[in-house]
Amino acid sequence: MKRYFPLHIRVPLIFFGSAGILEYFIDSGDQPAFIKHPEIALLLVLILFIIIVFEVCYAAINNMMLQMLSEEERKAKMNAVVSKPSWLANFLKNATNATPIEHEEEIVLNHNYDGIKELDNALPPWWVWGFYATIVFAVVYMARYHVFDGDSQIQEFENEMEIARIEIEEYKKTAKDLVDHTTVVALTEASDLEAGKAVFIQNCAVCHKPDGGGSIGPNLTDEHWVLGGGINNIFKTISQGGRPAKGMEAWSKKGMKPSEIQQVASYILTLAGTNPADAKAPEGDIWKAE
Ligand code: HEC
Repeated sequence: MKRYFPLHIRVPLIFFGSAGILEYFIDSGDQPAFIKHPEIALLLVLILFIIIVFEVCYAAINNMMLQMLSEEERKAKMNAVVSKPSWLANFLKNATNATPIEHEEEIVLNHNYDGIKELDNALPPWWVWGFYATIVFAVVYMARYHVFDGDSQIQEFENEMEIARIEIEEYKKTAKDLVDHTTVVALTEASDLEAGKAVFIQNCAVCHKPDGGGSIGPNLTDEHWVLGGGINNIFKTISQGGRPAKGMEAWSKKGMKPSEIQQVASYILTLAGTNPADAKAPEGDIWKAE
């Protein structure tokens, strides 16, 4: 035991092992447990202290026992430790089971091709185990996918895509600023329309008039639209601007958030048919939703 886990492996192994176990079982969110809970850090220090005390006592006792042995016994003990092959050497030997070079003449086969000889080594156990493992795997695989009709790779892929799609939909519902002109829907909540109106009065009324009747910019209350009506087109115009050099800026570039654009676009929709006094003459085509 002591030979396989010398001091410099044993101590970190026990310490980080306990730290890992604590980390695994204590729910500390995305921070390490010993940062989130100072008492865990304290516990780790205590564990380290106990390990060190234990090691020191262990070494002292060992030393005392060695002192008590006679000279020969001590030498015999040391030799036993040195002459034993390490576990790694043992493992490699067992895993390959090759006949050592000194004994190769015992397994050389009788044919000789122009001086090239063939050895009859046993199959290496690691290979044989691997082969048995493939047989076990094949049985499990066949049962799972061909007898009990498990999901194929394509089916698994599609299942995961479906889950991801639902998650994206859920996320979009919480992230209001992810809307763009392809996904936007008209808002109807009074609070959203109020907010849209405020944005409109502050930023847009100079060109479109506070009632939307239009001056520099077109009338936003009639059925005629230069750049297309409906929530999607209106959102796009506000976000990306009108035709070049016409005066309608791309408001997303001026720092207007998608959620605000959605609010003001929804507000504009409510102006339809209000027929304000002194409204600008219709421009563009009559727009009909498809
Ligand atoms: C500097 C003046 C100006 C300001 C400020 C302005 N607009 Fe415009 N707007 C225009 C002009 C000019 C057009 C026509 C663009 C074109 O013909 O390409 C336009 C077009 C539009 C259209 C499309 C109308 C149609 O018939 O297709 C919408 C919708 C619109 N603006 C909304 C807004 C909103 C919302 C704001 C505020 C965030 C705003 N505008 C601020 C000048 C302005």
